[in-house]
Amino acid sequence: MIELTINGKKVETEKGSTILQAALGNGIKIPHLCYDKRLLPYGGCRLCIVEI
Ligand code: FES
Repeated sequence: MIELTINGKKVETEKGSTILQAALGNGIKIPHLCYDKRLLPYGGCRLCIVEI
């Protein structure tokens, strides 16, 4: 597990997770249209863009 901060909230996620997976897994909503955990990341809709 790794720890990171999203919108001021400390969260834990499995090493290798994407930021979107970490957010969704911790109840933080990020709009996402083309993401499906069963598929490889595609990055087509650009709805999940975040500032790091
Ligand atoms: S969910 Fe579509 S680009 Fe990220």
